[in-house]
Amino acid sequence: MKNFTYYNPTKLIFGKGQLEQLKTELPQYGKKVLLVYGGGSIKRNGLYDEVVSLLNDMDVTLFELSGVEPNPRISTARKGVDICKSEGIEFILAVGGGSVIDCAKLIAAGAKYDGDAWDLVTKKASAKEALPFGTVLTLAATGSEMNSGSVITNWETKEKYGWGSPATFPRFSILDPVNTFTVPRDQTVYGIVDMMSHVFEHYFHLEENTLMQDRMCESLLLTVMETAPKLINDLENYEHRATILYNGTMALNGMLSMGYQGDWATHNIEHAVSAVYDIPHGGGLAILFPNWMKHNLQVKPERFKQLAIRVFGVDPTGKTAEEAGLEGIEKLRQFWNSIGAPSRLADYDIDDSQLEVMADKAMINGEFGRFKKLNHEDVLAIYRASL
Ligand code: NZQ
Ligand code: ZN
Repeated sequence: MKNFTYYNPTKLIFGKGQLEQLKTELPQYGKKVLLVYGGGSIKRNGLYDEVVSLLNDMDVTLFELSGVEPNPRISTARKGVDICKSEGIEFILAVGGGSVIDCAKLIAAGAKYDGDAWDLVTKKASAKEALPFGTVLTLAATGSEMNSGSVITNWETKEKYGWGSPATFPRFSILDPVNTFTVPRDQTVYGIVDMMSHVFEHYFHLEENTLMQDRMCESLLLTVMETAPKLINDLENYEHRATILYNGTMALNGMLSMGYQGDWATHNIEHAVSAVYDIPHGGGLAILFPNWMKHNLQVKPERFKQLAIRVFGVDPTGKTAEEAGLEGIEKLRQFWNSIGAPSRLADYDIDDSQLEVMADKAMINGEFGRFKKLNHEDVLAIYRASL
């Protein structure tokens, strides 16, 4: 295990009725508030009215940026930055899923940066400071509610990159499972795949002696796999929504990554796909991750075998580590199929015409992945296996 320092300043406020806490949290930061939200789900399910009514009670001056896209666009973040700068916004409240929160993070940092916000995403400049912001999460998936990362798409150039800064942790995040009741079944599944993928990105590393970290990862996976089939048939079940919501946050708030660094290649490979085809992130991961695993099974077969035994219930008797590991990967594929996740790029009408383009985008900063460094040929092989 490597040395580490863990710091996560986001105040996590979890449970039914916790929206009320806005009244104690928000006034600390100012009166001029920019409310950021997506394409209208919060208007349809009534959350918008609840939030605005609370903000009105607090006597804030309210500005709004709506229409944040899934796979949020730099163009939308720029609009938010303009509002912040011209109106002297003091606090940003993001109400939505990972896309809304990621967009709010860039608006918060862009508001304190003199140049174009895209510089922060491409790392031409680093975000030294940001406006304070908080979130009301409506979809369990990314973990963005309790981390400092953000993923932004430039649709003109077909680029999608992750960035982040110590300045872009939410000050608080309010997670009421009830606010996730209206997430449709397909988006619920994408979120489940995403949070499981975050655990896998952690799990595949080359560090030794991560006994507790391994068990924490396995615990999250087992819990999601136990709960997901029940949830997708009972979308308004509070306990199941709560379990999945809590899992999503824990899978990517730094708790799993103490003492080692995970791989994170599959996220890079997926971001290149959604940059070109605008597919849901979790859908892309469901297609790609088992193929990344098969491609890298030989790197450390024992690790795949451990996952197969402990999480997928594989009996290793008479099997090599590779055979047991492969069986585990097949069980993962079956599990994701069973909850309705896509399994081939063809499910999104993606053929082989843009594979080189996507591989070039994935390779923009050279070889990547900590478990196994992937080159252009590796990436192409994973895409081809996913067709
Ligand atoms: O836009 P609205 O109308 O709100 O609808 C959204 C959107 O269409 C809908 N939705 C959200 N909450 C809902 C709801 N519909 C009904 N009821 C609700 N309560 O769901 C759709 C998808 O929302 P989105 O925010 O895009 O989903 P998600 O949370 O999965 O975020 C995906 C984005 O996050 C990035 C992804 O790449 C992608 O751009 N990621 C961010 C990470 C981070 N910041 O740490 C890490 C992740 O690995 C990921 O890359
Ligand atoms: Zn993800």
